[in-house]
Amino acid sequence: MHRPKLRTRSSKPEEPMRIAEKVLLSSGYEMPVIGYGTWQIPKSTAAEQVREALEFGYRHIDMAHGFNNTTEIFESIRDWMKVRKFQRDEIFLSAKIWNTHHSRAKATEQIDEMLQMLDTPYMDLIVIHWPYGWAEDDGMFPRGNDGKPIFSNIDYMETWEALEEAHQAGKVRSIGVANFNLSQLDRIYTKGTVKPSVLQAEINPYFTQKDVIDYCTARNIMITAMMITGNPGSTFYRKYEDPNLLFDETLISIAKNHGKTVTQVLIRWILDLGLVALIKSNENKRIRQNFNVFKFKLTPDQIERIDSLNKNFRILWPILGNYNHPHFPWPFKADRN
Ligand SMILES: NC(=O)c1ccc[n+]([C@@H]2O[C@H](COP(=O)([O-])OP(=O)(O)OC[C@H]3O[C@@H](n4cnc5c(N)ncnc54)[C@H](OP(=O)(O)O)[C@@H]3O)[C@@H](O)[C@H]2O)c1
Repeated sequence: MHRPKLRTRSSKPEEPMRIAEKVLLSSGYEMPVIGYGTWQIPKSTAAEQVREALEFGYRHIDMAHGFNNTTEIFESIRDWMKVRKFQRDEIFLSAKIWNTHHSRAKATEQIDEMLQMLDTPYMDLIVIHWPYGWAEDDGMFPRGNDGKPIFSNIDYMETWEALEEAHQAGKVRSIGVANFNLSQLDRIYTKGTVKPSVLQAEINPYFTQKDVIDYCTARNIMITAMMITGNPGSTFYRKYEDPNLLFDETLISIAKNHGKTVTQVLIRWILDLGLVALIKSNENKRIRQNFNVFKFKLTPDQIERIDSLNKNFRILWPILGNYNHPHFPWPFKADRN
């Protein structure tokens, strides 16, 4: 498997734990290997949690209009950079085009809004959040009388072209997609003018997605892995009886062997695969702990044992009326509806 060279750079001397390891993207820009995830951070605490992550040393923040907390987070980052006198290129800002903004005009509008709210000339990365689009100008979650999402028939290639234009105009340094299946990603890769630098995908030991990793490795598309812990506390898409990585005996024994937590082992596994790890926590102690993974490495045997836990078990399956959309990425599974 491809293992990108990690680059290290020490940062400001007054800051104790500011290690920022990075990977080089196909766009020519670097991305810190650990990103702070912001899904399910309530609006009321979002500003403070992101500040905490920045203070502790995270230099890559993963945001999305669809997470419904960007107003607070954008403001927090903007203010923090001013107060702490950080240069724009010291922080990697990643965001997404939401389902209600798939037309060229709306996607462009959403990018311009981000730049304005963050008071920045460019975003480091923007991905298309989902391949399927919803009705525009009808709120963030447009729903019909049957409670199901109202679809738009806009092809994600149009959204991609808006991203390409923004990239060419210097508004977005790297562009990519999230939650696309391999044929959708391949369509972008082969038909697009600009190659996708990133695929954001669910990867964890119960869902190793080797075919996706191999496809991306062969084309120099970096995977930013999400749901590394399987997001065990979430009630979105999860059922109570679903397997929980944090209780897995193999992972617990490897964690004990290194004197680390299971979450730290999961993050380290992603990094040792040569991928970028997104991790979210609402707890300050965990935010710090999750970043403290640079001083140990898994052995090849441990990586193999973790790889072999695969159950092809996908959690992020928001069928929720989206299944009939022509661009829904995954096959229907009645028990996940
Ligand atoms: N593009 C997409 O569609 C998409 C989808 C999903 C995720 N993402 C991105 O990827 C990020 C990460 O994914 P995720 O948030 O779904 O899953 P995740 O980071 O795997 O899981 C977060 C969960 O793990 C818990 N956790 C974190 N650190 C822990 C620790 N040290 N010990 C025990 N539990 C811990 C958190 O609980 P506490 O908060 O209570 O600590 C939270 O319940 C998201 O935040 C988002 O930015 C993108």
